[in-house]
Amino acid sequence: MVAMQTPIEALLEEGRKFAPGEAFIQQANVKDHSIYEKAKQDLEGFWAEQAEQFVWFKKWDEVLKWECPWAQWFVGGELNITVNCIDRHLKTWRRNKAAFIWEGEPGEERVLTYADLHREVCKFANVLKRLGVMKGDRVALYLPMIPELPIAMLACARIGAPHTIVFGGFSAESLRDRINDAQAKVLVTADGGWRRGNIVPLKRNADEAVSQCPSIEQVVVVHRGVMDATHVPLHEGRDHWWHRLMEEAPLHCEPEPVDSEHPLYILYTSGTTAKPKGVVHTTAGYMVGCAATHRWIFDLKEEDVYWCTADIGWVTGHSYIVYGPLANGTTGVMYEGSPDYPAWDRWWSIIEKYGVTVLYTTPTAIRAFMRQGEGHPRRHDLSSLRLLGTVGEPINPEAWMWYREHIGGARCPVVDTWWQTETGMILISPLPGVTTTKPGSATTPFPGVEADVVDEQGRSVPLGGGGYLVLKKPWPAMLRTLYGDPDRYVQIYWSRFPGMYFTGDGCKRDKEGYFWLLGRVDDVMNVSGHRISTMEVESALVYHPDVAEAAVTGKAHDVKGQAITAFVTLKAGVQGTQEKVDELKKHVATKIGPLARPDDIFFTAELPKTRSGKIMRRLLRDIAEGRALGDTTTLADPTAVQHLREMYEEQEA
Ligand code: PRX
Repeated sequence: MVAMQTPIEALLEEGRKFAPGEAFIQQANVKDHSIYEKAKQDLEGFWAEQAEQFVWFKKWDEVLKWECPWAQWFVGGELNITVNCIDRHLKTWRRNKAAFIWEGEPGEERVLTYADLHREVCKFANVLKRLGVMKGDRVALYLPMIPELPIAMLACARIGAPHTIVFGGFSAESLRDRINDAQAKVLVTADGGWRRGNIVPLKRNADEAVSQCPSIEQVVVVHRGVMDATHVPLHEGRDHWWHRLMEEAPLHCEPEPVDSEHPLYILYTSGTTAKPKGVVHTTAGYMVGCAATHRWIFDLKEEDVYWCTADIGWVTGHSYIVYGPLANGTTGVMYEGSPDYPAWDRWWSIIEKYGVTVLYTTPTAIRAFMRQGEGHPRRHDLSSLRLLGTVGEPINPEAWMWYREHIGGARCPVVDTWWQTETGMILISPLPGVTTTKPGSATTPFPGVEADVVDEQGRSVPLGGGGYLVLKKPWPAMLRTLYGDPDRYVQIYWSRFPGMYFTGDGCKRDKEGYFWLLGRVDDVMNVSGHRISTMEVESALVYHPDVAEAAVTGKAHDVKGQAITAFVTLKAGVQGTQEKVDELKKHVATKIGPLARPDDIFFTAELPKTRSGKIMRRLLRDIAEGRALGDTTTLADPTAVQHLREMYEEQEA
């Protein structure tokens, strides 16, 4: 059994330390601390040196223009990110190097070299142009983890059309809302995808969404082959098969020069309200930031076979499957399906088969593998691995140690990387040839990153204390705004502590200045490394005709980090049966997507409220996690919450 999330007091007493091995240091891309000093002394010069390595149509006039909270990087420069991710490599031996080694869940394999990628991207860019997509138009992508997804992203970037990817696990309604917010003109989807041997009905969801998306003019459908093509309904004049359009597409497409600050993509993420935020990333700074962090944190070498297990629908896939790795000319593995299909050793067989050297995954996945025991990895030769990474949520030291020992054979450095959709690039992480790691800590900020821990008043908390994690200087891949809502951008990230970016995360620093992330301090849950707001789930629940009121909280969970618990008040006359529980869980999954399905739904006649009518979520969390109830003095009816707890415990038993 995996231990529950470790309390922070125990974490800070963590005594184990792992210094980089001599042999690793010898070959490391970064071998000593001087890089930190260099970035500190001249932040702009530090990033400009990185930017010099790329191809520019026009060089920048100014490295950074910072009028807090508005940042511009490489001001006045012109470039195209696909030239840097693809064309640049074609003039070298990398032309025939694998860019992606793809494996489908049923077992098919496809290798795309940089030359192949170039050809496919140019062709699809021409397809988009033919469909009327112009520079600045938004294109929505709702696809499984198949090579067409990075191809479509890069094709958008080739012509300067920002993409907005909607994770394939999101529902029709979530897709609809994102398309409408972005006002996308074209949608690219597929007949479906494979997940644990089941079909994910993407086209069906897309049809449902698009019927309520007036901005969508054309839909392109990849035939992934989960359905017979004749069974996929195509809307005359609107829907087109990808392969038909590609047959006629010209092989060459000139890259569109775009300004450094031209938007590359919009990616929606959960905040404290029910409405997702459209995080906007631009081109040059994002490219430079992703490439440098990828090269140094993963110690990327020309020969590496790098595998980031994320879905491209999340920011991790954008930055560390597509843009960062391709900018570095990396060979990346891409896997379509689920880790336990057909058995729990699928990932280990992929590592053995392709000789994966660098693995980047999530604490949730590691904890799920721990549950299945060491037998699965032991049956495979994992000796090709030389570095391991994690991201998405705090990793408990047990999981960190298990990863190091049973996957990394106690020889691979482990890099725990902290960052967010908004930050675009990793900001707190070890450098594997330099940093002594401690299990459970993301260690220290990346060179040039000024992170601090502050109290309620925004005052820096001395080492050894805890508070809110903030960022005090701009970094190149930072979000520039929220799409269509600059006021919300200012309010959410820059108002709590003037002059500082507020991450929404709690954090402690130990006496040596190591950062220990504590999770969100707002109403955002982290379920299996994915952000879901309590408000999103609550508003989905109250949308159901039988629900009068709902309060949602995250509850500590052995594998997922947090699981969703909902307290629901039903309308008069509705029975709180097991069938109703199942119906409501399904309802939330349909509204938002399967990842938002509550683990527990608990019916109650009333919710604990303050005298002013505010639901006390903190108390609900105490109840759900079986803790002593916190301060109840502000409650309108303090006896009700005790009663609620007793009922909850009864129902749990
Ligand atoms: O709470 C932090 C947690 O995930 C949040 C960001 O989620 P998202 O935007 O979906 O991006 C996830 C992938 C970058 C953060 O605010 N988080 C992410 N990485 C870590 C983490 N918490 C602790 N340790 C990490 N390494």
